[in-house]
Amino acid sequence: MCGIVGYMGKRNAYDVLIQGLKRLEYRGYDSAGIALEGSDGRLRVYKAKGKVADLERAVEGQDISGTMGIAHTRWATHGVPNNVNAHPQCSQSGSIALVHNGTIENYGLLKTALMQQGYTFKSETDTEVLVQLIEYVKETNHCNLFNAVRESLRQIEGAYAIAVMEKDNPDTIVAARKSSPLVVGIGEDETILASDATPIVAFTNKVVYLQDNEIAVIHRDRPLQVLSLETNHPAPVDIKTLQMSVAQLEKGGYDTFMLKEIFEQPETLRDCIRGRIVDDGARVVLSGVLQNKQKFLDVNRIVIVACGTSWHAALIGKHIIQDMCKIPVEVEYASEFRYSGPVITDKDIVIAISQSGETADTLAAIQLAKNKGAFVYGICNVVGASIPRNTDSGTYIHVGPEIGVASTKAFTGQVTVLTLLALCAGQVRGTVDAGTVRTVAQALARIPDTVRDVLKLDEEIQKLSRTFTYAHNFLYLGRGYNYPTALEGALKLKEISYIHAEGYPAAEMKHGPIALIDSEMPTIIIAPTDSLYDKVVNNVQQVKSRGGVVVAIVNPGNTAMQEMADYCLEIPEVPECLTPIVASVPLQLLAYYIAKNKRRNVDQPRNLAKSVTVE
Ligand code: F6R
Repeated sequence: MCGIVGYMGKRNAYDVLIQGLKRLEYRGYDSAGIALEGSDGRLRVYKAKGKVADLERAVEGQDISGTMGIAHTRWATHGVPNNVNAHPQCSQSGSIALVHNGTIENYGLLKTALMQQGYTFKSETDTEVLVQLIEYVKETNHCNLFNAVRESLRQIEGAYAIAVMEKDNPDTIVAARKSSPLVVGIGEDETILASDATPIVAFTNKVVYLQDNEIAVIHRDRPLQVLSLETNHPAPVDIKTLQMSVAQLEKGGYDTFMLKEIFEQPETLRDCIRGRIVDDGARVVLSGVLQNKQKFLDVNRIVIVACGTSWHAALIGKHIIQDMCKIPVEVEYASEFRYSGPVITDKDIVIAISQSGETADTLAAIQLAKNKGAFVYGICNVVGASIPRNTDSGTYIHVGPEIGVASTKAFTGQVTVLTLLALCAGQVRGTVDAGTVRTVAQALARIPDTVRDVLKLDEEIQKLSRTFTYAHNFLYLGRGYNYPTALEGALKLKEISYIHAEGYPAAEMKHGPIALIDSEMPTIIIAPTDSLYDKVVNNVQQVKSRGGVVVAIVNPGNTAMQEMADYCLEIPEVPECLTPIVASVPLQLLAYYIAKNKRRNVDQPRNLAKSVTVE
């Protein structure tokens, strides 16, 4: 939800900032802009509606010199995507420029007050209010940029990560954060700040993750200074080493990041499992669980909060935790959780699942759970993000940076970690027998190879996708463990192809959606030969007898289904609780190829952003 970058150093700032914006484009891509400080003390601001590439075109022939600057790629919240609403936003005199990720809730009141002081506004953004406020404070208090930013932020309600620079001050960038991420990279005589570490890793692996309510001063000749917004006292500058490589951020010969990430899954699942299954599958070792054994012994109930794809993983997690641990599990949309009068006690464990670790709704949900005394456990991908820093314990999925906006490898990583958690906690509680642990853990240890086999369906799915390119609606059905897989398959198709798709529990179809079935609407049915297989067969027959077209995901050698369904895709047999990992891969590919046939931008689908840091 918007990406910001800032640079101060010896290099050409424009090059660093553009490269950084390209890394952050997954966060928003409806407009982009840049502000550069030239040696002549002028502030040059360039903006363009559209992608970073459009900004590059708009800047052709302009003066892009300078070694300091800030830049922004936007996902619109206040005001339509256009040049005026793009960031950087500038103050009335044009002497202060600011980029912002987040939302300012009290901007209406502040805007009215500033208008009464004679300020006029060009854009519809909340951000312009903040930059005008900074100028107003600076002029009325006769203070420096740092004090003006600090004082202004004390009047702001909402979420922000900001970077601010001013004309005639080519040595200072002021940055701050509250509820939106901000990372500062410390290189040799250069500093680069960004919404995440991806723009930084090419320059340095030393980073400082700014905490909420901290303000940083980046000065050309002085070490990074971090202060508390409230007390103005210095805060510790905790320098961490990045575990990320530039190669992980490239497409690696694939057409798109999404395809790369689908095909990476054998390796990412191996990384996710590494060191966690020991003694030939006899034991599962998840330190987050083992270090908090008593919590998992005393727990009355687990509540899982998540959004989107992570919420689908949560539904699968519910099933497997209930099976293995005999603990009641509830799954809540993080966005609804705090508005549903949640009854949470200190006997509850609240698990937050999030790829980015920055989703605002999930962060708000865990804050509420913590306030009510729950033990909060995070399952995240991005190391050092806000959710892992605000939870009592947790597990990283370790699938590497996910750049395609549609989540693929993070989903299979999340389900894998939830399986490991269920097995480990089940062992701690004595609720799962040794034979089950070994069977599931050994199959999980083999899952990278199993997924590699599933990926061999690539060509077959590509061919099949052509049959469905022009369908307007899809139904995805599954039962038990694979009802969430159906939801996830439908979501993948919707987000990248813009075709309407509904995921449904197969047996619920007869209570309504069956009315939609006709020869125009393909039905994708997940039907591995598991405990619910016979029942799913009935659902296939119900669709077929109404003239529907069926694509069935089945285990090899299922001749009965091959006769019944119009198309079958074969996936290897695995224990029932692992079928979602295996069955979701062909659904990712099907969505991918249908979207490609429709010439969609699969890495950056319209209206979406990878990391939803606003409510
Ligand atoms: C779908 C997708 C989104 C995210 C959701 C939560 O492909 O990516 O639905 O799953 O926005 O994001 P995280 O997991 O970062 O909290």
